Amino acid sequence: MAATEEIPEWWRQAVVYQIYPRSFADANADGVGDIAGITSRADYLRELGIDAVWLSPFYPSALADGGYDVADYRNVDPVLGTLADFDELVEALHSRGIQLVVDIVPNHSSDLHAWFQEALAAGRGSAARDRYIFWEGAGEDGSEPPADWQSSFGGSAWERVADGQWYLHNFAIEQPDLNWANPEVRADFVTTLRFWSDRGVDGFRIDVAHMLTKDLRDPLPSSKQLAALPLDGQHPMVDRDDVHEVYAEWRAVFDSYDPPRTAVAEAWVDKARIPLYARKESLGQAFNFDLLEADFDAAQFRRVVQDNLGLAASSGSSSTWVLSNHDVVRHATRYGLPHLGPDLDGTTSRRHGLDWLKSGGTDPVLDRAGGERAARAATLFMLGLPGSSYLYQGEELGLHEVVEIPDSARQDPIFFRATTGDIGRDGCRVPLPWRPDGGSFGFGDDGSHLPQPPWFGDYAVSSETDDASSTLALYRRALTLRRVLQAEERLEWIDTGSDDVLHFRRPNGWEVVTNFGAAPYRIDSEDVLIASSTLDDGALPAATTVWIER
Ligand code: BGC
Repeated sequence: MAATEEIPEWWRQAVVYQIYPRSFADANADGVGDIAGITSRADYLRELGIDAVWLSPFYPSALADGGYDVADYRNVDPVLGTLADFDELVEALHSRGIQLVVDIVPNHSSDLHAWFQEALAAGRGSAARDRYIFWEGAGEDGSEPPADWQSSFGGSAWERVADGQWYLHNFAIEQPDLNWANPEVRADFVTTLRFWSDRGVDGFRIDVAHMLTKDLRDPLPSSKQLAALPLDGQHPMVDRDDVHEVYAEWRAVFDSYDPPRTAVAEAWVDKARIPLYARKESLGQAFNFDLLEADFDAAQFRRVVQDNLGLAASSGSSSTWVLSNHDVVRHATRYGLPHLGPDLDGTTSRRHGLDWLKSGGTDPVLDRAGGERAARAATLFMLGLPGSSYLYQGEELGLHEVVEIPDSARQDPIFFRATTGDIGRDGCRVPLPWRPDGGSFGFGDDGSHLPQPPWFGDYAVSSETDDASSTLALYRRALTLRRVLQAEERLEWIDTGSDDVLHFRRPNGWEVVTNFGAAPYRIDSEDVLIASSTLDDGALPAATTVWIER
């Protein structure tokens, strides 16, 4: 029986583990991770102590954007398995008390989706073209893009088709934006949500949740004009108030299930507008990426926690915390690089580590051990917070970003399109090391679709399982201990008299102390339940978190 039947709002303080399916475990030894591979590791997930798995896209895809270019929303990519494999995975997770959240990508489909192929064949003015955003080009013969907008991955956001019309793609060329003013598009996503809910999926992560609805009219504004418009819910392109009409319809779908299905919005919007997505009437929860953008710094962490607990309370939802995901440099690596500084504005993504990646990992010099130590401290801090924590596969091993990927092996469209020298996100998507040796470190029998560096063997699951001081052991113990915290969502700060030390209290006499600075900080060490690094003669050393029970 799924645990949701016992705990109606399981998601409020859940630990959700993100799996990037092509890089988790490869059951059929073709170099690409698959659904059966995940099922074969279900006991690993149970022993880790997570509450839910979030599966990044596993749908049929030509991989123009790591699977976020979906060719069929209601199927499994044949390279990853079958619907029967998916059903087995649901069963394997549920029987271990683990919920399953899947990624839904509604802003754009793949250009290989049947609808887009139909739109290309059907021509101008057709009903098939109206499911996407087709426009006439500018200039006398229409050979210029309709507007000078840039896609998120670099280059024009418009692409011309054979008959001369252009279509909008806010991401890769192979990801045409869908037209959410079209009732058929809306109805089809309801069918998709029901399809997966009926198969036992417990929740959905909504990709680019802030961009679905658009209000585009001739003449289209220039990118400069777009950028100057206020982000007040009426912007033609992003974070429009009317997107919540879509989510109200989805909410009715979610609530028609028992237990209700859940959703979390990936919405890169002004902080003050995040609660609109997190409300129960909308998606119910929204990501906050502020910790992921912060340095390992006491003042920044405290501000992020304060701000986001306030925002979550104003929406009636719980907060979400994220340190790593499939889009950013892993946090063990970020924290081993110089700080970005205190200019957290919470509205734009600050991608730590980009310069380091561009330099091939040489400049600035990465402090590997220091980064891992701070990452363990940050994770233990995060797991003590009220709300739900999202973990990204491999962080429980202390994995670093991989920089040594030859250009010929890179996959991310950012690498191919960015004009800034950004080499993209492949470095956090390299298949996991399960064993210290072997062709692909136990990922499959041999080979891996993104090359693993030799040092990956030092972070192997099997070695860390047998080592009580490993990062994996720390995660396992913390996730077990944290269950006592899940009844209440309160947090109270305790004054430490130090700018570098944060201390907060949770219910049941349970406390978290983190030393972000260099000087040791004295604590009552006999009450310590768990420490992210060894204590130093009863003091909390640099970059260390402890949980204390009084
Ligand atoms: C996903 C990215 C993806 C983009 C376009 C993002 O928010 O997390 O991995 O490239 O959406 O689908």
